[in-house]
Amino acid sequence: MVKKNRILKYPVAAIFLAAVLFLIIVSLSGEENNMQNAIQLPEPLGKGEISLEEAINLRESVRSFSPGPLSLEDVSQLLWAAGGLRVDTVTRHSRTYPSAGALHPLEFYLAAGEVEGLDSGIYRYNPASHSLVQISRGDVREQLSRAALGQAVIRRAAVCVVISADFAKVAPRYGERGRMRYVPMDAGHAGQNIYLMAAARGLGTVAVGAFDDDSVSNALDLPSGETPLYIYPVGKSPE
Ligand SMILES: Cc1cc2nc3c(=O)[nH]c(=O)nc-3n(C[C@H](O)[C@H](O)[C@H](O)COP(=O)(O)O)c2cc1C
Repeated sequence: MVKKNRILKYPVAAIFLAAVLFLIIVSLSGEENNMQNAIQLPEPLGKGEISLEEAINLRESVRSFSPGPLSLEDVSQLLWAAGGLRVDTVTRHSRTYPSAGALHPLEFYLAAGEVEGLDSGIYRYNPASHSLVQISRGDVREQLSRAALGQAVIRRAAVCVVISADFAKVAPRYGERGRMRYVPMDAGHAGQNIYLMAAARGLGTVAVGAFDDDSVSNALDLPSGETPLYIYPVGKSPE
């Protein structure tokens, strides 16, 4: 009886081990795929061509653009301003926007339509490595525009930067107050950085908050825990 039980135990252990090994291999190959898909953005520039005061004065909502693609440097500067790491961060966890409790519940996506050297598609921004991870291929500007009540500015833009939030990151510490106040405040700070960087680089943008959440989530294939808060269509400023 005892022998029989032992024999029965070994195949169970073997199956368990095989399953664990399988999961490790799958997760490692997933990471490898992510690494392969990672697109390193140019190093963020520490200086622009105009002063902060000029950028603040130039900031306005722009809903039509001059034709032409953005450069990878434009994309790099916009994403760094939106949610990148501060360049002097050595010992402290800090980003370009303030975040209640340094919880940083925001994620940043790029829906690329026309960018020199970058395929159309959806990319997730990785602030730690200042890189993009491609999530899917294809131009979703038309789909995003429909999700945003048909707003033409979205299909006219070269790219859209989308800010989403994982509310579960703040709820344990700050509860409903954190969900209701702090997360949207964080998004506002990051959004203003996008406006200012666009103004500083001769680009135009507008904060778009009017959209159907589920349709935007579907268009971007957002993880189930994330809620889209803002779409920032960006293109070259009109002449
Ligand atoms: C939370 C929020 C949501 C907004 N949503 C939209 C929008 O869906 N579509 C749009 O064209 N502008 C939108 N805007 C831009 C405002 O209309 C714009 O900021 C306002 O008219 C003032 O113009 P200015 O930004 O040029 O100063 C939004 C702005 C904010 C702050």
